Amino acid sequence: MNKVYQEAPSNIAIVKYWGKKGIQEPMNASLSFTMSKSISKIEIQHAHSEEELKIDFLFDGQKKDSFLPKIQDFIKRNEKHLSNITSGILKINSSNTFPHSSGIASSASSMAALAKGLYSINQSIGNEQEYNPQVVSEMARLGSGSASRSTQTGWVLWGKTDELQGSSDHYGIEINNQIHENFHSLQDSILVIRKGAKSVSSTVGHQLMDNHPFKEGRLKQANKNIKKLISALKQGDFKIFTEVCEEEAMSLHALMMSSSPGYTLMAPETLRAIKRINKFRDSNHVPLTYTLDAGPNIHLIYPKEQSKIVHPFIKEHLAPLCEDESVIYDEISMPLQQ
Ligand code: DP6
Repeated sequence: MNKVYQEAPSNIAIVKYWGKKGIQEPMNASLSFTMSKSISKIEIQHAHSEEELKIDFLFDGQKKDSFLPKIQDFIKRNEKHLSNITSGILKINSSNTFPHSSGIASSASSMAALAKGLYSINQSIGNEQEYNPQVVSEMARLGSGSASRSTQTGWVLWGKTDELQGSSDHYGIEINNQIHENFHSLQDSILVIRKGAKSVSSTVGHQLMDNHPFKEGRLKQANKNIKKLISALKQGDFKIFTEVCEEEAMSLHALMMSSSPGYTLMAPETLRAIKRINKFRDSNHVPLTYTLDAGPNIHLIYPKEQSKIVHPFIKEHLAPLCEDESVIYDEISMPLQQ
């Protein structure tokens, strides 16, 4: 019997991945940071036998057969890296540190944890020591694109760009050694405007980019923003960071609205919160910005030292716009040796 434990964090993209090509390759490079508290955990056991591979999947300790086709598909797509698990019994037990109804997307962290777990159990059965982060990220990408940025820690870039040597459409790379210390301790307070699952899956959203009237414009914009963001992160420039962050958030939603069919994924409270954030920032001159995923919730991003002034503002003016006043106070996770 072999047994491994792995975990992977959720991540939030500043330059967004929106649109695919080939097999789960991104239309443009994206850049995100991983979070500290929003984590998927996985424990995998493998019992050896010559019988055909059988998988047991448990979520929070409960059997969940409805997830099996996704896992079987994941193993099939990654079979060249999983040559030691073609037979026997595989028992997978997974859980998240954040509730399903928190509005945090779990596909990035759960697919990244699955990739790390399956890679490790395969190594453990074969008694192999090597851990290749690029292979693990590539495996995760085949489960969910954004998961390729969750198998590593901190600032991770996924997608080929002239701005960074070694960047690839196949896997994410950590770029922490290039990041100014101003961006080492960012806070990410998630305003949970709506708790439920997304009304449109991102997979469908990506497909709508294939024939989108603004596809070329989006590509140009994303390439410009990756360049601007990398430069801002190197220089420690929060003003430029803010410009990119908000342009990307708004464009993502504008692209969804102008798809055919179009979707509005913001809620009225999302817009009200954004207005309050802008007003607060203008009158207090606080470095504070926000981004959005493909849904109504807002990630409020600011340097740790601003918490004293930002937290009372959140409590008084933003929490009342959230479902059950729900705000999740998370922050960036950075590798230990920086
Ligand atoms: C808006 O990674 O969830 O969060 O590859 O189809 O699984 P699939 O899509 P997914 O898309 C994430 C889109 C996004 C932006 C981002 O995280 O870059």
